[in-house]
Amino acid sequence: MTELFAICSTWEVDDASARGFVLAKRDEAGAITRWPILVTRKGNNFYGFENACPHEGGRLDTVPGEFLDEDGNFLTCGRHNAQFDLDTGHCFIGPCQGKALTAIPLIIDDGDICLAGVDLADEDGMDIDDPNAVPEVMITGD
Ligand code: FES
Repeated sequence: MTELFAICSTWEVDDASARGFVLAKRDEAGAITRWPILVTRKGNNFYGFENACPHEGGRLDTVPGEFLDEDGNFLTCGRHNAQFDLDTGHCFIGPCQGKALTAIPLIIDDGDICLAGVDLADEDGMDIDDPNAVPEVMITGD
């Protein structure tokens, strides 16, 4: 049985849009670190990426939750305006042109967008700057 971690419901991510989350992940040494991710949607397809720009490694959203360019067509990094495809995470313009966001496989389970195979930790006790960006992480079974 694969343990799934529900991030949110599919209806909570609008079509042609993106939504960010800050999860708590356990590293190989057992330490808990913040793990900002984002979920994008094109039609009924959902894509997960680490929220880390391949240029300098920081979050794309310099303003929390703002991921899209002015026209709302592409992911954009608020630092130096690199732009990325919503579905592939490929950077087609900007200082990291030709690179891509790190993809995170998602599983859609009964209307929920889920992660599998990731050692997530409870976020209790973490100092989260942006509490609105932290989802309730539920464990569901298959
Ligand atoms: S850090 Fe994202 S474009 Fe420079």
